[in-house]
Amino acid sequence: MKKIIVTIDGWSSCGKSTLAKQLAQELGYIYVDSGAMYRAITLYFLRNHVDWTNPEEVHEALENISLEFVFNPISDRSEMHLNEENVEYVIRDLVVAEKVSEVAAIKEVREFAVAQQQQMGKGKGIVMDGRDIGTVVFPKAELKLFMTADNAVRVERRFKELFEKNPNISLEEVKANLEMRDYIDSNREVSPLRKAEDAIILDNTNLTPEEQFKKALRLVHDSS
Ligand code: C5P
Repeated sequence: MKKIIVTIDGWSSCGKSTLAKQLAQELGYIYVDSGAMYRAITLYFLRNHVDWTNPEEVHEALENISLEFVFNPISDRSEMHLNEENVEYVIRDLVVAEKVSEVAAIKEVREFAVAQQQQMGKGKGIVMDGRDIGTVVFPKAELKLFMTADNAVRVERRFKELFEKNPNISLEEVKANLEMRDYIDSNREVSPLRKAEDAIILDNTNLTPEEQFKKALRLVHDSS
């Protein structure tokens, strides 16, 4: 079976990364969480008080950022490293989530991330999830999925995930954050979140992760 590129785009907290990881593991492919890159850049901007409305500051900051996915045998997955520091867990904080969509809407930030993402896909055999992967990063990918799920289900899922780490978090906060990110992500000028014309919609509101995985795996086999 030939190696292909699988892109998974969609709204926040639709289960994109769960599916992407399962597929990559089953197929022996690389998994890339492109959102982690935008989150790590945002973390750097926040920590270094970069004024991201100022293009010069953004340019200078990006010159000092090095991103790398490093495999961790303990967690059995690749983790995001920012300038050689493992930031996989801190980038999931709401503090970062609250600003990431603003940062990800900046043209130079996107060019910086997209160039690296395209490099990672050179050898094919990759599953990448995000917002613009099927439309901009790999417009010629063999299989494009666009994931969606009911809003209430998405809020509940993300709330459970964040609550485990921070019991002070409220459902309202999580809901507001998802709505805000979806709004900014789909209305920005540069690479807005869109379903690629040739993407297949996968609505997982009523699917278990196993059912969703089987469906997607069938699609991969049909496209390989
Ligand atoms: O996938 P995740 O929810 O971790 O992504 C965090 C944010 O990064 C998104 O809300 C979006 O603003 C941005 N993003 C993006 N393009 C991608 C992946 C993520 O703009 N390909």
